[in-house]
Amino acid sequence: MMIIDTVRPLARRVRNRLSSHKLSPVARQVMDEGLTYLSPAKLQRMEQALDSVAGVAGDFAEFGVALGGSAILIAGRASGRQFHGLDVFGMIPEPTSDKDDQKSRSRYQDIKSGSSRGIDGQQYYGYRDKLYEEVRSSFARYSVPVGQNGVHLHKGLFEETWPDVPCEALAFVHLDCDWYDPVAYCLKEVSAKLSPGGVIMIDDYHDYGGCRTAVEEFLAAHPDFDFEDGPNPVLRRQL
Ligand SMILES: C[S@@+](CC[C@H](N)C(=O)[O-])C[C@H]1O[C@@H](n2cnc3c(N)ncnc32)[C@H](O)[C@@H]1O
Repeated sequence: MMIIDTVRPLARRVRNRLSSHKLSPVARQVMDEGLTYLSPAKLQRMEQALDSVAGVAGDFAEFGVALGGSAILIAGRASGRQFHGLDVFGMIPEPTSDKDDQKSRSRYQDIKSGSSRGIDGQQYYGYRDKLYEEVRSSFARYSVPVGQNGVHLHKGLFEETWPDVPCEALAFVHLDCDWYDPVAYCLKEVSAKLSPGGVIMIDDYHDYGGCRTAVEEFLAAHPDFDFEDGPNPVLRRQL
């Protein structure tokens, strides 16, 4: 067990290093520091999607910040715009929809039981007492301090914090919140504010059935969005 605990993080670092040559220095660093669950391929697609909205009006947002890795990357690209990061910064809420799959329910039970392990053998982020403070200090270390230059974090359930977030228009949104209900809620809310040409990137489409169902229902009802598949698919509002 001890050997596996040492070898696994090392193997992850080697694997990431081998496939990270196309990433920006910030993306590489948040990955090396274990601040994100996103793979190098997902981070690369995120950087390309951010480049693609350079001429699109609106703010950037992430729903599902956890340790802050992907949020730091997005906030660092938001100059001249606002960045809003939303999360409970604590235990992930339970998947409660009957549209969530067994994999989601098992994952949640694992987390709830206290046996979930963090990145590279760290403590799982959802068990940390001062997660919000840790994330704020990571943002400061990466020169995107919270509360300055349009960088904001909103602590609480999306359904409770988002209605008070001052945001007129959105250009890029990262949805990384796993289960059916939060993904469906966020799609409904952010699509109403997404500018033409704007992007919603979905982290868990290929990972959890509830997320996939929420996206498929959304696309069926919104023919003005194009679906660009990949490890983390993009929903792009047509011009
Ligand atoms: C997979 S993690 C995000 C990972 C992160 N983007 C990264 O770079 O590794 C999902 C996060 O979404 C949060 N979350 C899920 N549902 C939520 C809800 N309804 N309201 C607020 N936060 C929620 C969880 O607490 C968790 O921190």
